[in-house]
Amino acid sequence: MKTIIEPFRIKSVDPIRMNDRRSREFFLEAAHHNLFYLHSRDIIIDLLTDSGTGAMSSNQWAGIMLGDESYAGSSSFDKFEKTVKDLMGFKYIIPTHQGRAAENILFSLVCKEGDVIPSNSHFDTTRANIEAQGSEALDLLIEEGNDPTIIHPFKGNLDIVKLEETINKVGVSKIPLIMITVTNNAGGGQPVSMENIRLVSDIAKKYKIPFYIDACRFAENAYFIKNREAKYKNTSIQSIVLEMFSYSDGCTMSAKKDAIANIGGFLCTNSSELAQEQKNLLILTEGFPTYGGLAGRDLEAIAIGLREVLNEDYLEYRIKSTTYLGDRLTELGIPILLPPGGHAIYIDCLKFLPNIPPSQFPGQALACELYLEAGIRSSEIGSVMFGKKDKKTGKDIFAKMELVRLAVPRRTYTQSHIDYVVEALENVWNNRQNIKGYKITKEPKALRHFTAYFKPVSE
Ligand SMILES: Cc1ncc(COP(=O)(O)O)c(C=O)c1O
Repeated sequence: MKTIIEPFRIKSVDPIRMNDRRSREFFLEAAHHNLFYLHSRDIIIDLLTDSGTGAMSSNQWAGIMLGDESYAGSSSFDKFEKTVKDLMGFKYIIPTHQGRAAENILFSLVCKEGDVIPSNSHFDTTRANIEAQGSEALDLLIEEGNDPTIIHPFKGNLDIVKLEETINKVGVSKIPLIMITVTNNAGGGQPVSMENIRLVSDIAKKYKIPFYIDACRFAENAYFIKNREAKYKNTSIQSIVLEMFSYSDGCTMSAKKDAIANIGGFLCTNSSELAQEQKNLLILTEGFPTYGGLAGRDLEAIAIGLREVLNEDYLEYRIKSTTYLGDRLTELGIPILLPPGGHAIYIDCLKFLPNIPPSQFPGQALACELYLEAGIRSSEIGSVMFGKKDKKTGKDIFAKMELVRLAVPRRTYTQSHIDYVVEALENVWNNRQNIKGYKITKEPKALRHFTAYFKPVSE
């Protein structure tokens, strides 16, 4: 069959409140043109993020009722710990309230001022947590990954040559760990090949540098490996996942992605000394090691979600439905980052809005226009998120790509919702010459995309 169907039935629904363009203009103005300030009731289709926005299964909801809320020694923790150990193979599993808390604990313990953490691409919270320690978050993505038009099966790969050059230039003592993000959220949701993971691991071992995986979308990455790396065609997703993690010394994970839970995260390591230090810090900042900032019921939902996400029917539907959105936009001539990513489609705004320079944030302009057109919330992943001032010259540094991300929540929207998004984007595309750039009118010190205020440049 060619038709992709959602491999689930809908048992419970959430109403969507429709609204018109005039009211959306009012809502956007009140939100200072920052989509993070909008009320969710004023959004028709929410593609801001795939993080924590997935629909839990009836099994997960049943697990919620089984949650053991004991402060210490909870049986829900045992279930959670066993699942992560079985699926990922790590020795020490530390629950946290979400991914960034795992990052904070890891980097507070291993980084010091002046250190460098190489990665394919760090996501914003990872970067901010590294920079908060006075260390540098260094992106070493392969060249193909920075060109939206190049078709390459693993555009999330880390450049091995640049990695070894960096180690030789900076020195092993200044690199407390190497990281790889699977899939690469900051670069189009593109996968990393098993071969690349293995090569990075070989280099890490050669220089005795720990190697960690940012595992948020590990199952989606495994699906791409199965379908694009010939050697793995007949390997089960579960075996691919185990092999991916076997090359690493630990991982950080946001359970809000590929554990299909609404909250949660964890940190894994194979080092007993580091695990002890991590648990000490966990008690200080998150909670006792058998709950770590989560309720027992959350641990149950995560344990069940981690197994469900490996189901191949689910993964096929997941990746094919994101591809469907990407293919429809491409058919309309809308420039997207190619090939379509796993969890999201990224619109190439430098091509969509060539008259708006990066200094006027074309991604922000497109995201606002898409909201005004049809009540669709997306997110800018460009110079609002990654732009900064050069510390020495004070000049603006812009992002490598100006993107708008349409992140698809897991098991949440149907094909007709996606068709609505395609139609809205077609309208915006046809009207693109009338779209104006934006300027920032108020800006915080870090992670400005969450809280900055904007105005169209003409005002
Ligand atoms: C690749 C990546 N790493 C880390 C995080 C942080 O996870 P959390 O939002 O659970 O703190 C995210 C969240 O979007 C992510 O996409």
